[in-house]
Amino acid sequence: MPSYVRSGEVPHKRHIQFRRPDGGLYAEELFSTKGFESVYSLLYHLRPPTATLDIRPWARPAARFTANEPLRNRHLRTQAIQSDALDALESRVPLLGNADVVISVAQAQQPMSYFYRNTGGDELLFIHHGDGVIETQFGELAYREQDYLVIPTGTIYRVMPSSPTRMLVYESSGAITIPRKYRNEFGQLEEQAPYYERDFRAPKLKPPVDARGEYEIRVTNGGRNAIYIVQNHPCDVVGWDGYCYPYAFNLDEFAPITGKLHQPPPAHATFDAPGAAFCAFVPRLFDYHPLAVPVPYNHSSVDCDEVLYYVSGNFMSRRGVEEGSITLHAAGAPHGPQPGAVEASLGKTSTDEVAIMVDTFKPLELSEAALECEDREYFRSWVEQPVAK
Ligand SMILES: [Fe+2]
Repeated sequence: MPSYVRSGEVPHKRHIQFRRPDGGLYAEELFSTKGFESVYSLLYHLRPPTATLDIRPWARPAARFTANEPLRNRHLRTQAIQSDALDALESRVPLLGNADVVISVAQAQQPMSYFYRNTGGDELLFIHHGDGVIETQFGELAYREQDYLVIPTGTIYRVMPSSPTRMLVYESSGAITIPRKYRNEFGQLEEQAPYYERDFRAPKLKPPVDARGEYEIRVTNGGRNAIYIVQNHPCDVVGWDGYCYPYAFNLDEFAPITGKLHQPPPAHATFDAPGAAFCAFVPRLFDYHPLAVPVPYNHSSVDCDEVLYYVSGNFMSRRGVEEGSITLHAAGAPHGPQPGAVEASLGKTSTDEVAIMVDTFKPLELSEAALECEDREYFRSWVEQPVAK
């Protein structure tokens, strides 16, 4: 989506005959979004992607959530979550969700033996630890620690870890996009944006898999699920072009906007999605006013739930959090630096913290797994001296 990409062999015009060396026709596929009216790509397959041999039920357990009541700030120690499943999809454990976004953790130790296709919205994967490759019909997308991977709705993919991979997964109900404020009237990233087109990695197209057989694609669409058995290997693409494809962006490439005084979270925006705004806090110099207070002010975001995922470094303004912690600061619930954090921050010139955030504009609910790993005392963590109960 960031910009036009052309990969492999494509004919000189769209929608014309494009022939294989043996004289047969390649199968053109339009990979489009919002019907035919938003970003799209054209793919050329060895064989049609439509040859479906069988469709079976996929009894995917539905994520169950309960309201954040009594409404309060929460801290989830997600490192404690274990899954018996070994691949990147089956090991997903939903933690927080609403109609716009579902947030899960996943721990992939083995490759997926099947493909997966979410046709209900884009997915955003954040790689906390591990490396590997995501195979898609657009090619292979290598991933490493601190990558954001944007997977457009409809992409057929499977995660093939080279090392145990821990990731945070955001399943959106719509498109995950570059914030409008970073783009000029033609869509190009502006000079003032904290990233540039070169920072985004497109998939590398591999030689097409020339194979027929029975290939499993697990399909999900807004709670409706099915297993498709298709005759032609999904990665039989000889070329594609367009604006819609999976891509990677590493947080090392993010050039944070800093200032004389504290910059609010929107200065650190990375992506937008329906009902959700994503930010990243990366190592950066602190504010340079001689009297600047580096840590954030107290606030209560009355319009949104704030979900921070702590990746690495010293989380100066948060007491008790650790790598893999999630804090949910609920709409209207006051929060800010914990006692002593302001004083401790004075005079500091930089931070090494890495954390990613999503703000949601509808209330988030919690899963049972989230409640099981909750630090239930978190909401008291701003109290100067813990009050004896
Ligand atoms: Fe906040």
